[in-house]
Amino acid sequence: MKQVFLPDSAPFTEEQRAWLNGFIAGMLGMERAMAASSTAAPIAAPVVATGEEDLPWHDPTLALDERMKLAADRAIPLRLMAAMGQLDCGQCGYECRTYAAAIADGSETDLGKCVPGGRETAKKVKEIAATLAINPLPGPLPREREKPIERGYNRDAPVAARLVSSISLTSPAAEKETRHIVIDLAGSDLAYEPGDSLGIWPQNNPDEVELLIAILKAKGSEAVTLADGAVVTARDALARECDLRAPTDTLYRLLAAEAKDDADRSRLAKLAEDDAQAATFGVHDVLDAVLEFPSARPRIAEFVAALGRMQPRMYSLASSLRRHPAEAHLTVAMLRYELNDRSYQGAGSSFLGEHLRAGRQLSVFVQRAHGFRLPADHTAPVIMVGPGTGIAPFRAFLEEREATWATGRNWLFFGSQHRESDFLYEDELEEFATRRVLTRMDLAFSRDQANKVYVQHKMLACAEELWRWISNGAYLYVCGDAKRMAGDVDIALKQIAASQGGMDAAGAKRYFAELAKAGRYQRDVY
Ligand SMILES: Cc1cc2nc3c(=O)[nH]c(=O)nc-3n(C[C@H](O)[C@H](O)[C@H](O)COP(=O)(O)OP(=O)(O)OC[C@H]3O[C@@H](n4cnc5c(N)ncnc54)[C@H](O)[C@@H]3O)c2cc1C
Ligand SMILES: NC(=O)c1ccc[n+]([C@@H]2O[C@H](COP(=O)([O-])OP(=O)(O)OC[C@H]3O[C@@H](n4cnc5c(N)ncnc54)[C@H](OP(=O)(O)O)[C@@H]3O)[C@@H](O)[C@H]2O)c1
Repeated sequence: MKQVFLPDSAPFTEEQRAWLNGFIAGMLGMERAMAASSTAAPIAAPVVATGEEDLPWHDPTLALDERMKLAADRAIPLRLMAAMGQLDCGQCGYECRTYAAAIADGSETDLGKCVPGGRETAKKVKEIAATLAINPLPGPLPREREKPIERGYNRDAPVAARLVSSISLTSPAAEKETRHIVIDLAGSDLAYEPGDSLGIWPQNNPDEVELLIAILKAKGSEAVTLADGAVVTARDALARECDLRAPTDTLYRLLAAEAKDDADRSRLAKLAEDDAQAATFGVHDVLDAVLEFPSARPRIAEFVAALGRMQPRMYSLASSLRRHPAEAHLTVAMLRYELNDRSYQGAGSSFLGEHLRAGRQLSVFVQRAHGFRLPADHTAPVIMVGPGTGIAPFRAFLEEREATWATGRNWLFFGSQHRESDFLYEDELEEFATRRVLTRMDLAFSRDQANKVYVQHKMLACAEELWRWISNGAYLYVCGDAKRMAGDVDIALKQIAASQGGMDAAGAKRYFAELAKAGRYQRDVY
């Protein structure tokens, strides 16, 4: 049976209409589409089907390969979607599915906007997008109605804020540093709720910017033109507008064209084709690319034009406005690592925690949470699982629960490596416990004993009590690492449903899917 999803009045040519009807049917999955065609009202403008059952890869705990396998037989926009980070975090200015659709229909040309997906997403997106050249879509995909851009609530309309302070939450003995960042929002009119995130536009390490300018024998004051036509100085472009993490193919091509040395030229040409070997050539970031190929010295304007664009970074808000009016507090893990005898820093975390001086301005925006909110019912119990920086929104939750006189009980599972060095917000959490805002706190210090102890082990150890809370209407929240922790916590919850609720695996899966649908199992993972 021919599938018809678009109303006759939809503004498409016959060819586009036929193609789109087929496309939407494909996206919905044929069996479901067959059923839908006889009952459903016409769909005005679905970009990608939204039912989770249609998008099995839409799970941030799955690795890229697994996601791509699940989307293998699906239409190009869905394969593009599967390549994204699956957080729907808004960092790219879209959700995963709408960013994919915009790339597929050519209205978005920047393929590197998915920060959570990192380099592997950028690479996969580029690979899939290349197939569009062979198999183009017949015209623009139908769009959801564009929402007007609200100043302060969108990456493209940030507002100015000011850094108040940045202090370490960890002791010098800690293996990783985590900092508490306070940002002054006065004058910005920005408002947020616990559960929201703050987007920040980082600036690159000023020493690295000066080094690049010096290596390219430039002054930094040269005027350069950005992709959107704006003209700024080379120094400003390198500091604010360009991504200095991942070299682009365009950069490798430019360096290859400029290289005076044959070996440099040939290696750069290879990297421009496929950067899989970048690590073996000692290239991790843009600075490496110029250091490793000394015979390639393009002019600064061309160099800047060949770089990727800076992307914003997101941080869970760790404060309640009721407790800290006109302030935004963040809990930021400082990303530092060593490779090939060089030290690297994360752009966003080092900007907030190291390079930005107190009192200086930064550009920020609030990203409202899709579904990470305290219960409207102040008497409902709340269970929070947030190891590491996952504690951030729960500090905000506890402040909010206290400030709103919420009577519901609050239970926190927190974990970090060592009690001595990285028990984040130890004093505050103990005070919440003393004031009985925090009803119960279970702690997992993973490296304080011979065997690893994680939050899910603590949850399993008190399965009976946890199950009682859940059965009595508790709301469950998980925040922090998506790739390992969130999946393992999910498995532990299902084990608890089995041992305490007598469910089999399928029953436990259904139980938590329903809890999630009812808004009682919410995750903010990254
Ligand atoms: C909704 C949301 C909420 C978030 N909340 C928080 C929060 O509350 N606190 C927090 O700290 N973070 C949070 N994050 C993560 C945060 O946005 C940044 O991703 C994080 O700070 C790292 O960004 P960066 O700019 O410092 O690093 P980047 O400059 O983006 O560098 C990251 C890249 O470095 C590379 N890399 C990292 N480690 C290594 C290594 N060992 N070897 C080789 N390459 C490596 C990888 O390519 C990686 O993609 C959140 C993210 C989202 C989406
Ligand atoms: N790509 C990665 O491999 C990786 C790893 C960790 C964190 N991150 C990212 O680094 C950032 C900051 O991390 P963070 O400071 O928030 O905390 P974190 O590094 O995630 O660690 C917090 C605590 O969680 C423990 N942990 C590790 N694996 C776990 C698991 N499977 N289940 C439950 N707990 C687990 C850690 O133990 P141990 O460290 O002792 O194992 C530690 O005690 C986040 O953006 C996170 O996503 C990335």
